[in-house]
Amino acid sequence: MAGTIDAVAEATDRPFGVNLRTDAADIDRRVGHIIAAGVPVASFAQAPGEAVVKKLKDAGVVVVPTIGAPRHAEKVAAWGVDAVIAQGAEGGGHTGPIATTLLVPAVVDTVDIPVIAAGGMADGRSLAAALAFGADGIAMGTRFLLSSDSDVPDRVKAVYLETKLTGTVVTTAVDGVPQRVINTEVVARLERSGPLSFLRAARNALKFRALTGVGYRQLLSEGLAMRRSLGLSWAQMAMAANAPMMTKAAMVDGHPEVGILPTGQVAGSIDALPSCQEIIDSVVAEAAEVLDRLAQPVLYEAVQHP
Ligand SMILES: Cc1cc2nc3c(=O)[nH]c(=O)nc-3n(C[C@H](O)[C@H](O)[C@H](O)COP(=O)(O)O)c2cc1C
Repeated sequence: MAGTIDAVAEATDRPFGVNLRTDAADIDRRVGHIIAAGVPVASFAQAPGEAVVKKLKDAGVVVVPTIGAPRHAEKVAAWGVDAVIAQGAEGGGHTGPIATTLLVPAVVDTVDIPVIAAGGMADGRSLAAALAFGADGIAMGTRFLLSSDSDVPDRVKAVYLETKLTGTVVTTAVDGVPQRVINTEVVARLERSGPLSFLRAARNALKFRALTGVGYRQLLSEGLAMRRSLGLSWAQMAMAANAPMMTKAAMVDGHPEVGILPTGQVAGSIDALPSCQEIIDSVVAEAAEVLDRLAQPVLYEAVQHP
């Protein structure tokens, strides 16, 4: 993380953010480093604890957690976060049960801070729709993953491009927390095997450890941190300890056969790998076009008063 921060700071004078896993074993060290390095924005995959928010806010860092329910938005807003990413059920990775179309307006009605809509966003139509729901902007995960700039290996991107709108599933079988992933054979097998006993989970974890090559100590400290922050059973902990490494084995090291491929449903609508620049340009241009079209009363009046 420190090396990446240095590289980004070197490449731009513009503000940038660092994204953190709230359940990381070394979250306090990471937060300390973000403050020391003068990173302007910290975002979170799930809502961080109050103490983490306070530490960052006291140091002047802009804090943007991701939430999946209005009551979570209310809670983090009371702690003083600067904005929330409201991620609906369609979204990739860990995700809640409420659809984006219902979550975003509900969060907008609940809090007075900026709301960034996420989950299913991929083009200008979705940006215009999010603005109509009262959001201030959008965040996209799957769309940027499927770009020519993303360093996810090509053979993994190919699996995503083949995925249909019905090809994803929300499962708790990977790490005990609902996560939207591509419905691969590995995931189907984990789902079929039902609630895990600790022994079976530990055996699975060790099997996956062999695939991912992570050290035993790291496995244990990841697992204990997740057990604490997510309230997992010992069986879930054994699997959860491996989950980030399993995802890394697939997404970074290019082994889709490990089978944990987090994705938004929107993967089913995406069939090309443009650059990030092309994605942003086309999203903005299409949203402007849609908003312009919707702002034109001419057609409606012509129909009403021919
Ligand atoms: C492969 C993958 C990995 C993700 N990892 C993170 C993460 O580390 N931190 C985070 O805040 N969100 C993560 N997300 C969620 C995205 O930031 C974003 O909120 C989500 O993808 C939005 O839904 P979409 O995929 O429909 O665009 C991940 C999503 C995907 C698909």
